[in-house]
Amino acid sequence: MTHGVLTVAYIGASILFILSLGGLSHPETARRGNMYGVIGMTIAIIATIIGKVTGSFAVLIGAMGVGGAIGAVLAKKVQMTQMPELVASLHSFVGLAAVLVGFANYFDPNLHFTDGAEKVIHDVETYIGILIGAVTFSGSIIAFGKLSGKIGGKPLLLPGRHYLNLTALIIVCVFGVSFVNADSAAAGMMPLVVMTVISLLFGIHMVMAIGGADMPVVVSMLNSYSGWAAAATGFMLSNDLLIVTGALVGSSGAILSYIMCRAMNRQFLSVIAGGFGSGTTTASTAAAIEGEVVPISAEETAELLKSSHEVVIVPGYGMAVAQAQHSVSEITKLLREKGVKVRFAIHPVAGRMPGHMNVLLAEARVPYDIVLEMEEINEEFPETDVVVVIGANDIVNPAAQEDPGSPIAGMPVLEVWKAKTTIVLKRSMASGYAGVDNPLFFKENNRMLFGDAKASIDAVLKTLKD
Ligand code: TAP
Repeated sequence: MTHGVLTVAYIGASILFILSLGGLSHPETARRGNMYGVIGMTIAIIATIIGKVTGSFAVLIGAMGVGGAIGAVLAKKVQMTQMPELVASLHSFVGLAAVLVGFANYFDPNLHFTDGAEKVIHDVETYIGILIGAVTFSGSIIAFGKLSGKIGGKPLLLPGRHYLNLTALIIVCVFGVSFVNADSAAAGMMPLVVMTVISLLFGIHMVMAIGGADMPVVVSMLNSYSGWAAAATGFMLSNDLLIVTGALVGSSGAILSYIMCRAMNRQFLSVIAGGFGSGTTTASTAAAIEGEVVPISAEETAELLKSSHEVVIVPGYGMAVAQAQHSVSEITKLLREKGVKVRFAIHPVAGRMPGHMNVLLAEARVPYDIVLEMEEINEEFPETDVVVVIGANDIVNPAAQEDPGSPIAGMPVLEVWKAKTTIVLKRSMASGYAGVDNPLFFKENNRMLFGDAKASIDAVLKTLKD
């Protein structure tokens, strides 16, 4: 393949990636967006194999076969609720690849730069590429542990942690200078290895210090880092497509992190500094919870829904766990046929990944026009007859507004308690991801429908049909 054809293929793939991102921004065009991405990636892989690979094709195809097979099995097996963990582990691979490519590239005897400026640029690319890769790798592994519950959500707050981070940064900068000034590959080895170890430790420390409630930001932040790691790899390998794709992922991840921070009313820098969402309930929260928990049956719930004019459904992580979305869709259809106005309220960090609830509702064929964002519906709760909260907890916690001492104080929430009646479907009185008690369950106008969300919804559906 000539250089010109390769360039055209890369430009085509880049355009398809941009169209893909554009398509993924709306549920109606998401499928098409996904298709653009698949075609772009196919072009990119074929063009790279034909145009760039000079080594053994057999080894390459073998490695791709093994990787592809593992990916296909994982994608088939993984539950929707395990997606965030899967994504975190995939980010760690990008980070690891950047580190390995960086080291391999540095010791490649074919890359011998005589020009001083060219050598400095190449060394800086290598150093920064390995740095971002190592932080992404270890940070993503810890995020995987936290999201899958293998590591507790409580932030690890080492004494003087900001000074530790600052010291690490200074050491990395000092070693960076000695790396660039090294006159042989052997001399550059020590600073490179020291920086890699420090970056790995920094990645662990950074994510360990972040509390459960801030994990949405961490997921999107690591997404962004993995993009920058890929872009850095692109610089090391002089691969334009990798630079463009990495920059696209890096910048879209950064925008998503910003949106997540805004949704949770958090400053990006204070999330990185850690300590939020400690998983402990403060004394003031405990004192604020007064009232009685009133259970309700599925039959009573069905009666209440039938006699309502306006119903809002708030889905959360528990709906995903119970896989209740299809039954929820059926209830929605039935109530709408009976003349009840039904809408969905989606909190930006509901579930465990961005867009989690939208994906589930789209899968169950809930019409897009009745699925509303938090800002669109929050004002309308006082006019709502019944709000059905399905496996959601933190996103409807009034403590965020009412208790300044709460770990989630200041986080925007769906103000469901302003409706005439709220019905919360969950299995117990357990707290949600952030580990914070919820005063909503004790409010006078709240009822609890205990049990697995799918079983409860099915029981309500049965009564409605009868
Ligand atoms: P959560 O606050 O985690 O609450 C989910 C509730 O669902 C739990 O209290 C649980 O109570 C209930 N539940 C679990 N399985 C159930 C089942 N089979 N049937 C019925 N109920 C079930 O969820 P949320 O309100 O969606 O809030 C999301 C939380 O996750 C936020 O704190 C957010 O910051 C965090 N987070 C979000 C993301 C993204 S990007 N969306 C990423 C990481 C973390 P029981 O055990 O009593 O049933």
